[in-house]
Amino acid sequence: MALAPSERGNWTSRTGFILAAAGSAIGLGNIWRFPYTAGENGGGAFVLVYLAFVLLIGIPVLLGELSVGRATKLNPVGAFKKLRDSRFWPMVGGLGVVTGFGILAFYAVIAGWTLAYLYKAVTGAFGGEVTAEASTAIFTGLIGSSWVAIILTAVFILLTILVVRRGISGGIEKATKILMPTLFIILIILALRSVTLSGGSQGLEYLFKPDFSKLTGGAIMAALGQALFSLSLGMGAMITYGSYFPDDADLPTSGVTVALFDTMIALLAGVIIFPALFSAGVEPNAGPGLVFVVLPTIFHALPAGGFFAIAFYALLAIAALTSTISLLEVVVSYFVDERGWGRNMAAWTLGLGCLVLAIPSALSQGASPFFSDFFGRGDFLTLQNNLWGNYSLTIGAFLLCIFLGWVWGVDKSVESMELSGHKLKGRVLYSFLIRFVCPIAVLIVLSYIVRGNYF
Ligand code: PHE
Repeated sequence: MALAPSERGNWTSRTGFILAAAGSAIGLGNIWRFPYTAGENGGGAFVLVYLAFVLLIGIPVLLGELSVGRATKLNPVGAFKKLRDSRFWPMVGGLGVVTGFGILAFYAVIAGWTLAYLYKAVTGAFGGEVTAEASTAIFTGLIGSSWVAIILTAVFILLTILVVRRGISGGIEKATKILMPTLFIILIILALRSVTLSGGSQGLEYLFKPDFSKLTGGAIMAALGQALFSLSLGMGAMITYGSYFPDDADLPTSGVTVALFDTMIALLAGVIIFPALFSAGVEPNAGPGLVFVVLPTIFHALPAGGFFAIAFYALLAIAALTSTISLLEVVVSYFVDERGWGRNMAAWTLGLGCLVLAIPSALSQGASPFFSDFFGRGDFLTLQNNLWGNYSLTIGAFLLCIFLGWVWGVDKSVESMELSGHKLKGRVLYSFLIRFVCPIAVLIVLSYIVRGNYF
């Protein structure tokens, strides 16, 4: 049974929406995933391709998802069903719900690490100088311990449940209003410190000077996955958030603002990590541990570094929380809208179910040899990250473009965006990108999966 829109709640203002959607977009994707993926894929050229994907695919798909949400006021499955009553399209929404679950089940593990780092910061671990070796030892000690990893993940999922069960504007909107701008300020301070470290300019060069010989098919695939992941696209999070978007607010401007903020934060994270990394002598391709290993080495170089460390990890945990909220919200809104579950029960059942699925990932960083090298294909967490965070989102974005461009229609999508009377500038461009550029580009990139073995 579907709830009437008024019972589902709305954002209380446009700013509320921007902050909440930015809260979904900005998270570990920007600060943890972007720098290490850029580092693994050679730096500058990857960053350039990533930026191109944000502009050409990310922004149109973001606007498209929001338009579907606002037009239907429903979760992804219900939204597709309402716009096209067929067997196939609601399944695309269903893929999104499953993907949200899949992403949450590894994302919460990394989010748990941020809590451990917050604890370490509070107890003074980063007040003095921390060498790269000492930092690596802290990191491997933390992630390799099975109970610690599971408990941290559980705490994080619990926090997520506690917000999501209270519903959309009560919990989500309030949490983001002050915290996102604060995170931004802390990142700017860290960036200023990092670029002035000795050897820092090498890091900037690595990040911004493209070396196209490093641009492999895998790197292009990773750049697309990263653009979608970072903007929370391809799985219906923005359909869900768009469903709470007030009819009288300016959707196109809000959507573009969110995309620009998100991209700026990712670049800022890069500007912090890469100079610090060269200065500390850490390899750029250190993998998922990169940010966790590099950052502790720079806090002592700041006045009141111990305090900055606390503020940074607290905000990082919160940024991760506003993203996990949106992941669980997609799944919960489906069960609330389509299956008639109560919000409270849905949040608890699905959240705890996700925790069970997260355990293999939590154990995959050394605690369990089986999950640390899953059938010889590497660690379980990285596999999940690729499967849900790259492939599934890419397939979801492709199908969404087909739906927007060729099934529901660009005109209807634009009509929904312009409901408040605010015009979409570049309507023809939107149509061209959604109908042709995005699907073709995504297909080309997806063909790499078939041709190369990137699992
Ligand atoms: N965009 C979030 C981040 O960057 C992650 C996310 C992906 C959230 C997909 C929702 C949906 O951390």
